[in-house]
Amino acid sequence: MPYKLGTMLDISNKVQDESRQGEAYAPLTEQIRQFDKKFYIESYGCQMNFSDSEIIASILENQGFGATRNMEEADLIFLNTCSIREKAEQTVRKRLSEFKHLKRSNPSLLIGMLGCMAERLKTKLLEEERLVDIVVGPDAYRSLPDLIGQADEGQKAVNVLLSREETYADIAPVRLNSNGITAFVSIMRGCNNMCSFCVVPFTRGRERSRDAFSIIAECADLVANGYKEVTLLGQNVDSYYWRNPETEEDVTFARLLEMVASISPQLRVRFSTSHPKDITDDVLHTMAAHENICRYIHLPVQSGSTRVLQLMNRTYTREWYLAKVKRIREIMPDCGISSDIIAGFCTETEDDHRDTLDVMEQSAYDFSYMFMYSERPGTLAAKRYADDIPAEIKKRRLEEIVSMQNRLSLESNKKDIGITCKVLIEGNSKKSAQHWMGRNSQNKVVVFPKEGDFKPGDYVLVKVNDCTQGTLLGTLI
Ligand code: 5AD
Ligand code: SF4
Repeated sequence: MPYKLGTMLDISNKVQDESRQGEAYAPLTEQIRQFDKKFYIESYGCQMNFSDSEIIASILENQGFGATRNMEEADLIFLNTCSIREKAEQTVRKRLSEFKHLKRSNPSLLIGMLGCMAERLKTKLLEEERLVDIVVGPDAYRSLPDLIGQADEGQKAVNVLLSREETYADIAPVRLNSNGITAFVSIMRGCNNMCSFCVVPFTRGRERSRDAFSIIAECADLVANGYKEVTLLGQNVDSYYWRNPETEEDVTFARLLEMVASISPQLRVRFSTSHPKDITDDVLHTMAAHENICRYIHLPVQSGSTRVLQLMNRTYTREWYLAKVKRIREIMPDCGISSDIIAGFCTETEDDHRDTLDVMEQSAYDFSYMFMYSERPGTLAAKRYADDIPAEIKKRRLEEIVSMQNRLSLESNKKDIGITCKVLIEGNSKKSAQHWMGRNSQNKVVVFPKEGDFKPGDYVLVKVNDCTQGTLLGTLI
């Protein structure tokens, strides 16, 4: 799941929404509760990090710290960091250096690095970045109050222990910068896949699933508070598995989806990310059986070449992947599909690259997140294979991948002209306060003129009349 100062190339997918990267957060409670001390937090990287920041805010609020959007007035500044590509780390380091003047004018200010970079670099981060007082990995947020105490006494404070159990199941996230309509709910943590390019298994540890009851309770609470959409988050949601210790009932991802969808027909359910090897017919049938489970699957292919997929340790071939796409469309002909694609992985030839373009075309993705391969220290690929594709070739291949996706996105949107779709209004369109912006079930952004008495959070039917590559344009019916 998707990564820039603020990140992703997509504006239509919130799960990897670049437009939010580096956003400062403050919850609505800031206005009603008074706190002695204030913290300021910025999140980078995937949606999981943004979701973790809401857990961190909850832990800090319980300790008497209030969130602020104004870093000048903060006693604590946190950067919740990402390591997925080298560029993500560079962005965070650059941002950190911008805090120098704040520390100079307020020597008691504490600066904490959280998340994946903290986990990857551990105490090295303290040596490399003198400004940093606190280093905390993704499984150690409960120890933040103690670490802050330690740092207050002038000691550098570090906790990067990974856990096999921690899911923060009992912590009610403080919804930061929420629109009050859509929310992210973390259902699992970590990853066991060991894709050879990926640092996540090292920064987020072993996979573990959260207690299903706590997930349902969190979603039900969101519904009671007027939310209309939840996105169930995990590095690999399809391998969600939790056993009810009392009834010994097995809760698979398909069952969990069904349980969440049954909370209210008014609640839309999304999820991310799916690994093609783990998404089952059971999940697809469950989606098809519930109108409120959105017809949209983020199904990263990474490469279209079977040889490269093998080096990536993805455990499927191009044919197997294409068969999965076919199966999704058999069960749900109207399902949106998006992908993640890496250009220039170790040893990638022009033929391999053409295979990737070909899989994109055959899969007819509605959207993709596209990246140049970035070698990450400690990963299987860094140990086993040379990062041997020159930067300019990676760049050219990425450009070809991006132009292929641009064409596919436009084609997909053009096909929608004339259809009517159900849209959940999220707010004003970015370009005009006279237009609403929302999303349809397929996660496409739909923009239409304001008419009648509708408001954000309402479902409306919109007839699509026109489109751009990134947006469907329509009118209310
Ligand atoms: N280099 C480039 N892209 C990467 N991703 C993960 N690791 C790397 C890397 N080392 C991409 C994958 C993944 C997405 C979240 O980020 O496409 O699905
Ligand atoms: Fe998310 Fe960490 Fe992976 Fe970045 S490295 S995408 S923050 S899990």
